[in-house]
Amino acid sequence: MSINDAAYQKCINPDCGAEFDCGQALFKCPKCDELLDAQYNWDKIEIPKKLSDFAKRWANRNNPLNFSGVWRFRELLSFCEDKHKVTIGEGQTILQLNDAVAKYVDMEKGQLFLQYEGLNPSGSFKDNGMAAAFSHAKMVGATSSACASTGNTSASVALYAHHCGLKCTVFIGSGRIAFGKLSQAMDYGAQTIQIRGDFDDCMRQVQDVCTKLGLYLLNSLNPFRLEGQKTIMYRIIEGLGWEVPDWIVVPGGNLGNSSAFGKAFYELKQLNLIEQIPRIAIVNATGADTLTDLVNNKKLLWNDGKVNQSIIDDYYADLTARNFSPRTCASAIEISRPVNLKKCLRAIDICNGVVLAVTDEEILDAKAIIGKYGLGCEPASAATIAGLRYLRAEGVIDAGERVACVLTGHPLKDPNVTVNYHKEKQGEFSNPPVEAPNDLDEIIKRIR
Ligand code: F0G
Repeated sequence: MSINDAAYQKCINPDCGAEFDCGQALFKCPKCDELLDAQYNWDKIEIPKKLSDFAKRWANRNNPLNFSGVWRFRELLSFCEDKHKVTIGEGQTILQLNDAVAKYVDMEKGQLFLQYEGLNPSGSFKDNGMAAAFSHAKMVGATSSACASTGNTSASVALYAHHCGLKCTVFIGSGRIAFGKLSQAMDYGAQTIQIRGDFDDCMRQVQDVCTKLGLYLLNSLNPFRLEGQKTIMYRIIEGLGWEVPDWIVVPGGNLGNSSAFGKAFYELKQLNLIEQIPRIAIVNATGADTLTDLVNNKKLLWNDGKVNQSIIDDYYADLTARNFSPRTCASAIEISRPVNLKKCLRAIDICNGVVLAVTDEEILDAKAIIGKYGLGCEPASAATIAGLRYLRAEGVIDAGERVACVLTGHPLKDPNVTVNYHKEKQGEFSNPPVEAPNDLDEIIKRIR
């Protein structure tokens, strides 16, 4: 069987449904401009009978494809041959049971799990997607890569690009990127172009640049990136002894993760590898809450793919008329025109999902709690715990349900936000340094 028979690309618009070979680098449907999916002819792929069969790969982890937390599940993203597969050791992440954080959100002991994607090589979940997308880039013979980014995508693209020998250009909004992330893009050798504008401006420009110069685009418009991000869900299931949780909680920015998670669960159910699809909660920041507003207030729905485009067009026209630019301390999710909006609506439909927005104050307090009782995370990731706390208070999630929160980025990505919160006593959990004269007695007096 050739890999070409097993996978193809398909437009998500049911009125179009155009199909394309995986050998093409397309980031939107050439016929109708909608998003594309990677799809599989499952009968042509040898899928394990049960998810726990994937565990056998760990015994042979000296094969880098078995060590990779993405390619260990390769039958579920079977779009390229092994010779093209790229790995730098992504996906060695931890699912941590955390009863102290559970107490903060008023959940029962033993029920709250934190999925630390910050433990990836570039420090964020993006590496899952890049392992898959750069494999596709190699498969199609790409030589130059590009992305727009609020920071983590650029760090991850820069790292994988130099590993694969591709040229790399990243576009960031000026003054909008956390320093940890900017430092990575520069250090990994990417050309960094700072556009006077925000992420949404960068996203628009990078698509045109890629089309004009024939660069390979690595934003989550790229359907193969989302295939890699599906594996975050497989690893959560693995961490729970091959059982699904009741809820997944994830921050919402460009909405690639939530889209990928919905697709992952849909496929697992289709393949009879899980019995029940978990529910999903997608959490925006209030300063960048397009999804929340569109779903909760404007009642935008997936509607079997027939999404009411005029609601979206009117919404974006209003943002433009107001000259709106999103603002949140969680710079990673400071996005007001999420490119995967429609796929995310589909995920909400698949997973009976809910969306909500939390304030910067709630995000910062939740982040301090994850730091104090867990392994820490960057601000956008903490939106999950702030959101979960709200959903518990509202009774949407029960104290005894099993919940997995995806902590998308490492705490060192954005040290400024952390230092300011603690030093300037911005919140209830601030832990500022104590000044002391250079004198033993005075120092001892201050130790608590
Ligand atoms: N958390 C972190 C740490 C992120 O970097 C991002 C997105 C998100 C959450 C949101 O994920 O887009 O899948 O909804 N960062 C992108 C970037 C936009 O450019 O690094 P999403």
